[in-house]
Amino acid sequence: MTKYIVQGGHPLFGEVRISGAKNAAVAIIPAALLVDGVCRIENIPQISDVTALLKILEQLGANVRFLNRSDVEIDCRHIATTQVSQELAHKIRASYYLIGALLGRFGEAEVSMPGGCNFGGVRPIDQHVKGFAAMGAEVREGDFICAKASGDRMKGANVYLDVVSVGATMNIMMAAALADGTTVIENAAKEPHIVDLANFLNSMGANIKGAGTDTIRIFGVDKLHGGTYAIIPDQIEAGTYMAAVAACGGQVLVRGIIPKHMDCITAKLQEMGVQVEEQDDTLLVRRSGKLRRTNVKTLPYPGFPTDMQPQITVALCLAEGTSMVTEGVWDNRYRYVGELTRMGAQIRVEGRSAVIEGVDHLTAASVQAYDLRAGAAMVIAALAAEGTSEVSNVHYIERGYEDIIGKLRNLGAQIDSVECDETIETRQIG
Ligand code: EPZ
Repeated sequence: MTKYIVQGGHPLFGEVRISGAKNAAVAIIPAALLVDGVCRIENIPQISDVTALLKILEQLGANVRFLNRSDVEIDCRHIATTQVSQELAHKIRASYYLIGALLGRFGEAEVSMPGGCNFGGVRPIDQHVKGFAAMGAEVREGDFICAKASGDRMKGANVYLDVVSVGATMNIMMAAALADGTTVIENAAKEPHIVDLANFLNSMGANIKGAGTDTIRIFGVDKLHGGTYAIIPDQIEAGTYMAAVAACGGQVLVRGIIPKHMDCITAKLQEMGVQVEEQDDTLLVRRSGKLRRTNVKTLPYPGFPTDMQPQITVALCLAEGTSMVTEGVWDNRYRYVGELTRMGAQIRVEGRSAVIEGVDHLTAASVQAYDLRAGAAMVIAALAAEGTSEVSNVHYIERGYEDIIGKLRNLGAQIDSVECDETIETRQIG
């Protein structure tokens, strides 16, 4: 096991280049199963969730070849099985995308689902199942999800999502790309990675319209051909470095982003007194004075992202006055708060809200990552706190942040990764 040792209390200065979006990559890699040809996917982030998904594709019979560290060629012309090994699927939450992709291409799928809780609550997939069923599939749920189309192909259908779900929107889009007829998803999610998946599939010959709006129409085609596609930059990785500057102070140029995707985060940080200047594909983020209090409510895109909730909470811990953060997507995403209070933060959780009384400084402590974004928040808190902190369970962080140690050190952070013995907890997230 690895843990991070952080000597905090220093501002961050320099430049950071943002990697490809994790939540786009973990959908687009399974979507390659729909393609009867070779697809070259560029700007893939080097994170453990991606490694696990590529390994699953290889086990299914795909030919996977890295052309350099971020570009990969995937050839799914000779897939041998539609059963995904439990051992690998169990490691990542996004393995649910394999169901939509395998159903869409082969009319059947058997995928073991990640068990247990994640943010301390349930993460249901009923909306995914409802979509597959509307398209004629029979779905049996247990330790494994076994899904089978009624004929050779899925059938186009109208699906109204009861909740705005990123996963269900993408999964139904994949199942529908090669379906017989047209599928309409209403109340669809609008995150940048939804548009990215649609663009990937369209560049391989699919016919998908309306991604990025509430209503997505997928006109089924007979076949997808090979091609080349580059994944968008990671909105949340960029936001995490911006939140780190807010908490620690300093000046950082965040490179290789799509500024529009950052608006919801930029606006909140500006309210807090952080200066953010946009230029082409960069944001210059600066904080020298005291942070101001604000309220944040997480919502589906274009609202403030839930995947930035723990990171902005850390910054608000250091703002003057009382702030309130309300989680509007998940039932429970505050398990990390106990760790922050051990660093001197004053936070009271009431249902879906956290009331934060700003403090002057945080103090160093040994803390653990409860999940991916909570882990990133712990790193930010440790960077802002005076003294030496330890962050354990960092395998969660490495699921979603490419070379976080190298990127932070480049900004002058004193952070090291060391091997240790204990595992505090092992759960899925992502
Ligand atoms: C994706 O999860 C992301 N994961 C999450 O990011 C992110 O927090 C979430 O979207 C929301 O943006 C991946 O992309 C791999 P949802 P997903 O379906 O798709 C309820 C990270 O840190 N719901 O949009 O699983 C659900 O309980 C991770 O990178 C149902 O009720 O999220 C939640 O309240 C963590 N039934 C809400 O919808 C369903 O069938 C949104 O979930 C599906 C979801």
